[in-house]
Amino acid sequence: MNGPTPQAMNSAFGDLGPDAQPGTGIHGRPSGIHRLSLVLHPDPILRTVCEPVETFDSTLRDVADEMLALMRRHSGIGLAAPQVGLRQRLIVASIENRPFVLSNLDVTDSSEPRNLVEGCLSLPGVQVNVRRPERIRVTGYDLHGQRQSFSAAGLWARVILHELDHLNGVLICDYDPPADEPSRHGAQELLAMLAEEHTPQSRMEVSQ
Ligand code: NI
Repeated sequence: MNGPTPQAMNSAFGDLGPDAQPGTGIHGRPSGIHRLSLVLHPDPILRTVCEPVETFDSTLRDVADEMLALMRRHSGIGLAAPQVGLRQRLIVASIENRPFVLSNLDVTDSSEPRNLVEGCLSLPGVQVNVRRPERIRVTGYDLHGQRQSFSAAGLWARVILHELDHLNGVLICDYDPPADEPSRHGAQELLAMLAEEHTPQSRMEVSQ
């Protein structure tokens, strides 16, 4: 079967709580908290437009903590909920040991774009030159449901925009290289290879 595990497909955060099918976590942790695992392309959940977070409870905070831990295990600096099989508008990031979590985010203002090569934990081995604004204005909600509004620049802006793309089903391979620059990677070819290499079950291997 294609797609994420059944409990991830259901995707409500409540499905990950202590009452959810004990022992169905990747490593069967008895605590009832499920260890999340990384979703790889071409899992269809990576193309889903995610739903707003509506419940700001301890389960949401547990999920955010697990996402940060998973992201660090894979040496990432940002991770979005669909990358762990959840259809929720939730992202985490950490740059220079400054963890950051935001839900239901919206970028309301932006400046001139700039190119930078990006990678993605869900697209191992793929690097794409992506054009994004250097400065953005962000609104969203923290883990307690408090509205946040702030400016972000440089790498922070880029990570937030990359993760926001994930919440709308957009991946870096969707960005075409600028017309004045030669394609440096053959991203579509790499993706075709990945589609063959990574069966849906490969997530289990990645998480180990
Ligand atoms: Ni990504």
